[in-house]
Amino acid sequence: MTTARPAKKPIIRHVVSINDLTNKEIEQIFEVAQAYLDELADKSLPYRIGRGTTLGAKSILATLFYEPSTRTRLSFESAMLRLGGENITSADPNTSSAAKGESLADSVRVISNYADIIVIRHPKDGAARLAADYSTVPVINGGDGSHEHPTQTLCDLFTLKTKKKTLRNLSVAIAGDLKGSRTVHSFVYALARFGAHIAPRPAPGMDLPAHVDKRLREEFRCTIDPNGPFGALYCTPDEPHQPTLFAEPEFKIVGGKPTIGAVYVTRFQKERWSNKDQTYPTVDAEFLKQPEFSHASVLHPLPRVGELDVSVDSDSRAIYFQQAAYGVPIRMALISLLLGLVRGNHCTGSKAGSRARASRLTTSLETKDCNVSTRIVSCMIRLKDRTYATSFS
Ligand code: CP
Repeated sequence: MTTARPAKKPIIRHVVSINDLTNKEIEQIFEVAQAYLDELADKSLPYRIGRGTTLGAKSILATLFYEPSTRTRLSFESAMLRLGGENITSADPNTSSAAKGESLADSVRVISNYADIIVIRHPKDGAARLAADYSTVPVINGGDGSHEHPTQTLCDLFTLKTKKKTLRNLSVAIAGDLKGSRTVHSFVYALARFGAHIAPRPAPGMDLPAHVDKRLREEFRCTIDPNGPFGALYCTPDEPHQPTLFAEPEFKIVGGKPTIGAVYVTRFQKERWSNKDQTYPTVDAEFLKQPEFSHASVLHPLPRVGELDVSVDSDSRAIYFQQAAYGVPIRMALISLLLGLVRGNHCTGSKAGSRARASRLTTSLETKDCNVSTRIVSCMIRLKDRTYATSFS
């Protein structure tokens, strides 16, 4: 008599922190997102996804939001619809069983039987990690307290990639509430990992938290140049960051202060502060006349509430609405990879399932654009290689 081996539990990938993704995986996400843009963007607005595929048909995304959102929730839902899937949503904790006192752990245990993938936003740091611990399907962090907002960072990096070509040695000024802003925390880790320099420009009393500063120095080996454009500049070493994401170095510090390649503006996160009446700087046309910003792209995760003047909107350096638009292709790509829609060997684990998914992918794309079909399928093949398979499976 032989003892049957216990069935292998499928490994589920969650994206709670930007550091849950390797640099290589971030590149893969961008490659798939770009393929979606090439294939499905409106002709007149190249960064707007205007058409859909059937790749994600029958897949269900649950958006579980305990805090307000416009971009994150709606772009995730739009992404799932453009993939041909469906959404179920809990957008307001006052209308879900959270209002009766249900724990997050219980809610997630239940919802992971209703959906194939969950996006959660929560006011408490660590809530997304807890949700991931109790979920039987992938969990994506749509922002937890002042901890992290990794998919915003994917949009931010992708926007910079399209504009600046390289991150290596690019100096990025980060202005505003660096303490309370979760988008900033994910963003600075990613900048350090891809070899950019970080020039903090905090509002008074709103510096990077000590734990983020420590991690930048110790884990990502940033050194501090005290002569940065606004004081301390976090400089990243040449190694071990991989250089392939953004092609050729363009920005060099050749003596003196570096030119700022991008300025990332954030709002005062008043919901995270007890003193809501604090001095906060404004970025406007006058601010951007300073010589160090002459070539700086202006980013903002939005929403803005006065700290970024509308006078900047017509400036060619402003790319924040493009940044928000990229939320759809980026989240389409992330959903596709986590659900195995563009890899063909993740979700069911069976060869038949793989073939069915690969075939669905090839068919849906080939009928529209042969070149893109080839690109995504070749991406799919690469996704099956050792590096990626171990990372996303
Ligand atoms: N950038 C961002 O997270 O926007 P929302 O709060 O509208 O989702």
